[in-house]
This record gives sequence, C-alpha cells and structure tokens, in this order.
Amino acid sequence: MTTILRQIDGYEAARLNRSYYTSDINSADLHFFTYAMYNGYQAAVAKYLYHYIENFKKNEKQISILELGAHGVYFEEGVYREFWMLDMLKNANLRGRVEYRIVDISQKSIELAEKTYESASQRYFVTKFFVNDVIQEELPPNNDIIIMNELLDDLTHKVIVRTENGELQEAVFDLECIGNKTWLSQNGFKRIEGIPEKDLLRIGEGLGKGEAITYSAEINPLFDNIARNLKQNGLVFVHDYFVKSASRANGLKRPYGSITCDKKEPIEGKVQITSDVNFGEVVYAMEEHGFELIMAIPTEDFIYNTQQAYRPNAEGSTSRYLNIAGIKRT
Ligand SMILES: C[S@@+](CC[C@H](N)C(=O)[O-])C[C@H]1O[C@@H](n2cnc3c(N)ncnc32)[C@H](O)[C@@H]1O
Repeated sequence: MTTILRQIDGYEAARLNRSYYTSDINSADLHFFTYAMYNGYQAAVAKYLYHYIENFKKNEKQISILELGAHGVYFEEGVYREFWMLDMLKNANLRGRVEYRIVDISQKSIELAEKTYESASQRYFVTKFFVNDVIQEELPPNNDIIIMNELLDDLTHKVIVRTENGELQEAVFDLECIGNKTWLSQNGFKRIEGIPEKDLLRIGEGLGKGEAITYSAEINPLFDNIARNLKQNGLVFVHDYFVKSASRANGLKRPYGSITCDKKEPIEGKVQITSDVNFGEVVYAMEEHGFELIMAIPTEDFIYNTQQAYRPNAEGSTSRYLNIAGIKRT
C-alpha cells in the first residue's frame, strides 16, 4: 500500500526532524542505525584520534573531545576501548588525559546516555553531558577534537535542481509510506529563496540540466560555532553520507525513519529525515573558517585499513560514505 502523507521542502523536513528528536519518546524508540554503532568504525576512528593526540597534542595535560549529535555513549565506549588497548600496548595512559563531552538536541537521549554512563563509568572517559542545539546555541568551549557522526545529514537541506529549461529551482518532495518504511520522492519545484547569490552561483556552477545537489544554510553557522570553540591545531572530524557529484534530481531520494504507515497516524515526532550532504560545501565552509584539510577518504576504505576489518553493509557502495578531517591553523 502506498500512502502519500504530505509535500515537504528542506525546512519542513528539518522541522519534522527537530520534532522527532526533541519529542517525548524514549531514546531507545528513536529508530536509526549508524556506522558509529559498529565496533569496527569506532576502532578505526579511535586509532586515528590516538595518533593525532600523540603527535599534535603531546604536551597538553588535558584533551577535550566533543561529540556533536552523539545520541548516546556507544561511540565513546568504542573509542575508549581502543584507547585502552593502545595504552596497554604502549604502556601509556593517554585515556586518562581525555575529557569527553557529549552534546545532543534530544533531552531524552542525553538522559539515557547519562544513566548508561553512571552505571558503568569505568568503560568511558570522564564524561560531561549537554542538551544543546548545535546551530542555535553556543557549544562548550576549548575543545581539542570535535566529532560529528551522521549529524550533518539531519540538518536543513534544500535540494537544488537545474531544470530542463536551464533554471535553478528547489525540489519539493512527497513523504511516502511504502510497506512500513517512509521515503522521499520528488514532486515538483519551487522558487529558490534564502540562498545568498554567491553561494547559489557556486553550487549551480557544475549542475547540468536535470541534475541536483543539496545545500544546507546551516553548515556555515555550525562551522562558526565550531571554529569559536576549537583550540588552535584542533581537529574536526566529519563522517556522513554525501552526494558524490551532481545526481539526477530523482536520484537524491533517501530512505529515512521508521513509521507505521497508517493514514490516521500523526506524523509529527515520528519520522527522521536524512539528506545526502554536499561535501564540497562542507570543505568550502571548513576552508573559509581556516581549517587545513588533511584527509578525505571513504569510510569503508578507512575501516578496511585497520586490523579489525569490518563491513557493516556489503551492499552499500563505498562512494556513499566519506570522512573528512581538518586541523584548524588560524
Ligand atoms: C542520525 S543521528 C546520529 C547519532 C550518532 N552520532 C550516530 O552516528 O549514531 C543524529 C543525531 O543528531 C542529533 N541532532 C539533530 N539535530 C541536532 C541539532 N541541531 N543539535 C544537536 N543535535 C542534533 C539527533 O538528536 C541525533 O541524536
């Protein structure tokens, strides 16, 4: 059975997302699965972070790692486990120098994360918890490392399309239920509003007719916030789904959230929408904020290059995942 629930644009998608994450449902009932939940990914990132701290933060007594949109302490737990093993191998206590900070917009998620931490704190770094909107509120200050795992794809994204007559327009979508899954499918265009001319010129530059790319006006304010709260030589680590290149407009359809498909069921607070992230724009924002880009590699290759090779989704094409890491020089 197919049920079209409503027509939405990027702003409506983001509003639904905020409503989903801030709703009063239990954290455990928020449905999503991410790379950060898998040991192999946690270990791979941890090895990289450990190496970075050893080389760039040798003389600092305390290292602050800030995870934005963390949802829980599962990623931290995996990073801690790997740090512990590396410490044992090297007869070091690097993990003892780390303060880990968890930020999420969802009060319920943070409450559950704190409970999990309190019941087994020896499995984690010394940890602090914050309920914070990373776009609208100031981040905790003075961080050495800021990590975002699959956070950017939850922000407000417009889908910009060059139509067959050569104009740039914004695509609008229907929210469709197929089986018991929800999907976005493109259904028409509207006039682009709220994108500065210079940004529009840049993102439209490489778009051929019928091609589309995502754009988020929240990336820049997010990096303003990050740049203010990251120390000199601080590292920012981003992991997300990305648009490899301009795609056919209807190729940008992405699955999201779990919802029982029933016309009577209100959709508010029941659906999470994710977008492909325009990594070109992320790189642009990082450069504008004085980050020196040092690495950009597909996650699955990243994971393969570690001893604990792990491939959670053999079906997924490698090119759909990307890590970017940059060090702030200015
Ligand atoms: C797809 S989940 C990823 C969770 C976790 N990082 C992982 O990879 O498993 C996105 C997370 O970002 C949080 N989030 C979304 N928008 C946010 C915002 N504006 N400020 C802070 N957190 C936000 C959500 O509550 C959710 O926990």
